[in-house]
Amino acid sequence: MEFSWMVSLLVAVALLSLSGSVDSRKARILESLEYTGINCRAHSASITDFGGVGDGTTSNTKAFQDAINHLSQYETEGGALLFVPAGKWLAGSFSLTSHFTLFLHKDAVLLASQDQNEWPVIKPLPSYGRGRDAAAGRYTSLIFGTNLTDVIVTGDNGTIDGQGELWWQKFHKGKLKYTRPYLIEFMYSNTIQISNLTLLNSPSWNIHPVYSSNIIVQGITILAPISSPNTDGINPDSCTNTRIEDCYIVSGDDCVAVKSGWDEYGIAFGMPTRQLIIRRLTCISPYSATIALGSEMSGGIEDVRAEDITAVHTESGIRIKTARGRGGYVKDIYVERMTMHTMKWVFWMTGNYGSHADKNYDPNALPVIQGINYRNMVADNVTMAARLEGIAGDPFKEICISNVTIGMAVKAKKVPWTCTDVEGITSSVTPRPCDLLPDQEPENLKSCNFPAEKLPIDMVELQKCSSSMKYM
Ligand SMILES: *[C@@H]1O[C@H](CO)[C@@H](O)[C@H](O)[C@H]1NC(C)=O
Ligand SMILES: *[C@@H]1O[C@H](CO)[C@@H](O)[C@H](O)[C@H]1NC(C)=O
Ligand SMILES: *[C@@H]1O[C@H](CO)[C@@H](O)[C@H](O)[C@H]1NC(C)=O
Ligand SMILES: *[C@@H]1O[C@H](CO)[C@@H](O)[C@H](O)[C@H]1NC(C)=O
Ligand SMILES: *[C@@H]1O[C@H](CO)[C@@H](O)[C@H](O)[C@H]1NC(C)=O
Repeated sequence: MEFSWMVSLLVAVALLSLSGSVDSRKARILESLEYTGINCRAHSASITDFGGVGDGTTSNTKAFQDAINHLSQYETEGGALLFVPAGKWLAGSFSLTSHFTLFLHKDAVLLASQDQNEWPVIKPLPSYGRGRDAAAGRYTSLIFGTNLTDVIVTGDNGTIDGQGELWWQKFHKGKLKYTRPYLIEFMYSNTIQISNLTLLNSPSWNIHPVYSSNIIVQGITILAPISSPNTDGINPDSCTNTRIEDCYIVSGDDCVAVKSGWDEYGIAFGMPTRQLIIRRLTCISPYSATIALGSEMSGGIEDVRAEDITAVHTESGIRIKTARGRGGYVKDIYVERMTMHTMKWVFWMTGNYGSHADKNYDPNALPVIQGINYRNMVADNVTMAARLEGIAGDPFKEICISNVTIGMAVKAKKVPWTCTDVEGITSSVTPRPCDLLPDQEPENLKSCNFPAEKLPIDMVELQKCSSSMKYM
């Protein structure tokens, strides 16, 4: 009697706990999201509402596209947010819509698919004429948007993992038919925010806004092996009014590379990158630059302001890359308060970078490099202070460098500065600069003045947004 009573009690307890777990599986999780955004959204949904499965093996490409297509109905009704819960969400390329926020939970990983059928091929960029890896088209980026307005990709430091190894191997073996995809690309778009995410192992560039304006990139961590090919961090390309701040980048290529098209294609397209702020960036890139200007700069690069930049174990601090045939210009560049540890070159300018889109470039299309200002910097353990190579008959002009202290490495080059075809002045710079950049008394350094007025993107304030999400 006693025994059977006990058994029935146990069964009852078991049943209770079973029904309890069934209930909790059915119950929707309630989560409140807090974030800052250029705009908040009136509507929200979870990827799980559209059949998304976060198991790391099920493809969610269709779920993402269905969700975004559905939420695009709210474009004119306060916009919508798509929430990606904790889990591993495998997906190929998908496209966003306007007045839209993609929000990744802190434990969400958006895993880039390794199935090439999940990556539609699109035309090369008109300002480049051809793809970077192959002449034909290019794979659409993982998160893509074109002709959009008001779009946010953010999260609570959620992760986007490009799983780039397969692509890097194909690149090294010359087996790519098309140019590798980027992780995030927006084309012809206005008012973009990319914030508070970690980007891992991109197949190629990480963040690529192109032909776009009013862009904020904030609080992004980018990690890729230092030997991975072309894993540039953030590449504003023919963009106006961009603010990149509070980012930490370790990569196999330039941490930030400012671009505007390639040779005759970039000249014809004629769209510069201008009004760009880069601040509070930390960069580790032993084989590339902290901030590169070019080499594709044929539409022009103008009014770039970089401040409070830290570089560690990085090849160069600021690098200008150009060539005969590029045309275009790099002018009004202002960089201040850089701190650098263990660098090959602090300043590097290369006028013979080569690397042409094709043979049809015009060798008489000479780039104009003018108004390059660097001040208030310190560096230590440096192999060579500066290597400045302009173009014969086309000198790089109005270079102004002041208050820069460069500590040389034990195994430094004997000649710390080499300069050809450059013109400008310096003041309070050690070690002593080359004769082409003669030292001025501080009161003669007027041309080295930095602009006092702020850029319009600096006036943009983010709003506090919150929304409560119920999801399975
Ligand atoms: C990013 O996260 C930080 C710290 O949680 C927060 O202060 C900031 O507002 C966030 N920025 C954006 C653009 O979401
Ligand atoms: C996007 O905008 C560009 C430039 O205005 C235009 O040439 C192109 O046709 C537009 N594309 C789409 C898909 O609307
Ligand atoms: C975001 O995650 C990365 C990778 O785990 C980490 O290195 C970074 O410190 C995190 N950032 C913030 C603001 O928590
Ligand atoms: C020179 O630069 C250092 C930082 O590298 C800064 O602390 C100092 O104030 C600067 N001096 C002047 C006169 O601006
Ligand atoms: C200086 O740089 C060399 C590489 O060029 C590196 O091996 C060494 O550890 C660095 N020293 C310091 C003190 O950072």
